[in-house]
Amino acid sequence: MKIVASIAQGLENEGAKELIELGALAVKASRRHILFEGDMAVLYRIHLKARLSFRFLREISRFHCYGPDDLYRGIQRAIDWKSWLHPSKSFRVDVTGFGEGLTHSHYTALQVKNSIIDFQRELWGSRSSIDLKNPDICFHLHLSNHEAVLSVDGSNSSLHKRGNRPAVGIAPIKETLAAGLMRMTGWDGTISLVDPFCGSGTFLIEAISSLLGIPSGIDRQFLFQNWPDFDKNLWNIELQQAKNVKHIDGKLPKIIGGESDKLIANLAIDNIRKSGLENYIEIFNCPFQELKLPKEPGLLVCNPPYGKRIGDEKQLFNLYREFGSFCKEKASGWNLWLLNGNPELSKYLGMKASRRFQVNNGSIDCRWLNYKIK
Ligand SMILES: C[S@@+](CC[C@H](N)C(=O)[O-])C[C@H]1O[C@@H](n2cnc3c(N)ncnc32)[C@H](O)[C@@H]1O
Repeated sequence: MKIVASIAQGLENEGAKELIELGALAVKASRRHILFEGDMAVLYRIHLKARLSFRFLREISRFHCYGPDDLYRGIQRAIDWKSWLHPSKSFRVDVTGFGEGLTHSHYTALQVKNSIIDFQRELWGSRSSIDLKNPDICFHLHLSNHEAVLSVDGSNSSLHKRGNRPAVGIAPIKETLAAGLMRMTGWDGTISLVDPFCGSGTFLIEAISSLLGIPSGIDRQFLFQNWPDFDKNLWNIELQQAKNVKHIDGKLPKIIGGESDKLIANLAIDNIRKSGLENYIEIFNCPFQELKLPKEPGLLVCNPPYGKRIGDEKQLFNLYREFGSFCKEKASGWNLWLLNGNPELSKYLGMKASRRFQVNNGSIDCRWLNYKIK
């Protein structure tokens, strides 16, 4: 099967590595996407275990398309609709890209929908209903270069929602992005990990979940369970294997979060408990200045406020200046990774980044900056 993963810009290479580890073949990373091949077992496994990609589309047909009529006819011939979509099942059509006479995704989606339901009416005398929120099957059409690619989405909503973070802070980072950024740090559980601006605890939860091999999607209902070729036995095998969480022998180093807002610190504690990680992560409700770091140098990761969504830029100059001083005075020899969406602010740290990577946090263009604290 040809499969496409959607991923945040900047995480493509790490996302590709993760998919290879999970059995993906012929993996090619491109901007915001990863193209690869895999069988059903791989498809089930990546939905259960991948932490960086937020959607997987399985290609089911590809045809030339020079306009709305081609699209209408092409869709009817594309797959065996008799097995794919009985009128008792609801569906939704998502569209990306554009083609001749198909420049508005809403119009294109209507064209696809009409083609499908006309076909159903002819075959069965009845049609499926459309369900935009909770469809039984979600089709995805991509148009480019006079070609239409019809795919099915393996899940109904973005895979960043792990189900363990019902409560979020003011400006949380998506789980998929946090997982990708943690992967880029190379943290392997041998040194302490501290997030002094931990918000709802996403970096720490993703880091330890990944270390222990906790599946990202164990409690989800996936749309591939409604596909005609869904293999229940194979799914159960993958599900059981995904539940085999690693047992870490010996003690893990300290994993600590600090958060100045009491309400948000409590949310983090709640989320950690819901993720079953309360024995690994400790949260302190205090400003970073009061946070006690473990003696041995470790890894600091953080996403301090940067003024685009919360906090006023001018007040933040001080915060960054003080955080820079804190690092130099209290974290000499530590490694710091900081997500920053405002280059003006990071200057106030008074340290020079040794590495920087461009990543997108929602619509905000950010840098993932690495500092070796002297
Ligand atoms: C951008 S958010 C971090 C989001 C976090 N990565 C998450 O996933 O939820 C920044 C956090 O820093 C906290 N904060 C602001 N000033 C602080 C300070 N001086 N010390 C500690 N935390 C602070 C804010 O309350 C906020 O929750």
